[in-house]
Amino acid sequence: MQKLVVLSGAGMSAESGIMTFRDMGGMWEQYNIEEVASPIAWQQDPQLVLDFYNIRRKQLMEVEPNAGHFALADLEKEYDVQIITQNVDNLHERAGSTNVMHLHGELMKVRSEVDESLIHEMDHWELKLGDTAEDGHQLRPHIVWFGEAVPMIEEAIPIVQDADIFMVVGTSLQVYPAAGLLSYAGHEIPKYYIDPNAGELHISNMTCLNDKAGVGLPKLVKQLLSMT
Ligand code: APR
Repeated sequence: MQKLVVLSGAGMSAESGIMTFRDMGGMWEQYNIEEVASPIAWQQDPQLVLDFYNIRRKQLMEVEPNAGHFALADLEKEYDVQIITQNVDNLHERAGSTNVMHLHGELMKVRSEVDESLIHEMDHWELKLGDTAEDGHQLRPHIVWFGEAVPMIEEAIPIVQDADIFMVVGTSLQVYPAAGLLSYAGHEIPKYYIDPNAGELHISNMTCLNDKAGVGLPKLVKQLLSMT
């Protein structure tokens, strides 16, 4: 099977009802990054940080994957699909995708604020002050905050380098190192960018589709499945 690698962002989940970050009325217009998504914020006001992620976790448990998520899961019938997502939601997995790498962490997981290896799944939405890991330390969201390292990037680069087809879906490509993955995709391979604001991307063999994920992906997937 051909290796098909997908880099997805917040736009992938927009049609499921999850807000993106930088679009009009997006999350970063409503919240101050420094106050809710940074190590300093956690030091200064952990309750505010917990509230921010608890609200998002509660919402995630109320929404469903969209047609874009299901189309990518469908691709696994004919392609060796690897999804590298910037999203912390679990909608790719809930749609049936089996190879999903989360570069920026996972909302339904928490970990010790001291020992990063002590990670736990959440089966409810609320994480409270006083909830501790087995090391006795406070649990924090298992999320990569601004200013923190992105440990998975080292694993993601060779996967992109090895791709036969590369797809980018619903990301503004403003956040690094994730956006830098584009430069590792082989010069000759076919590439697709699906985003209503895709515009033009001057990269070899890149097809830009100014479409929503839930509309553009089912169309592109149908085309790709008919090619095998
Ligand atoms: N389908 C596809 N794309 C969409 C849709 C949709 N229905 N709606 C909006 N978009 C596109 C927007 O045009 C924009 O390019 O999704 C993109 C969202 O961009 P951002 O809000 O910047 O989100 P993202 O690129 O995922 O942000 C990267 O930044 O805030 C941090 O850690 C956070 O992982 C996140 C990272």
